[in-house]
Amino acid sequence: SSPSSPPPSCSSPPPASHFIGKKEDIVKAGRVTKLVNGCRDVLVLHHQGRLHAMDMRCYHSGGALQNGDIEEFNGQMCIVCPWHKYKITLAEGEGLYQAVDDPTAKPLRTYWRSKGVKQRIHKVTEVNGDVYVTLNDSSEAVDSDVYQTERYRTVLLKA
Ligand code: FES
Repeated sequence: SSPSSPPPSCSSPPPASHFIGKKEDIVKAGRVTKLVNGCRDVLVLHHQGRLHAMDMRCYHSGGALQNGDIEEFNGQMCIVCPWHKYKITLAEGEGLYQAVDDPTAKPLRTYWRSKGVKQRIHKVTEVNGDVYVTLNDSSEAVDSDVYQTERYRTVLLKA
């Protein structure tokens, strides 16, 4: 690195990170939403001592995840979309659903299954009480990407 750019230290925010807010404010609010880098609406949550960040609009139909409850399913913390109750893991953004192995069995037995990663999860970092998000720019498409357009930003804000 050149003399003009100091080496990164653990007290500096990571490169390409975006300031979201003070941790104490996010803890108090429980969740905040922010347009990050002018291009992505992100929901940042504080739950059971941990910070999580994900795309704000649900991968199913663009539901407002900031209004969803957080519940545990199959040992995984999930946000439950308020629109059609889809369950999304906070850690990986996986869509969980209940499957039936044998539809003729009585009583029916259901099992939790994963549809794979459906909601794009972003990285949260805390430095000296400040919370930053680094957008997950993996080129692999994630279903929630569809709702990160100007069109949905405008349409769904009115919903
Ligand atoms: Fe989220 Fe349908 S929009 S479950």
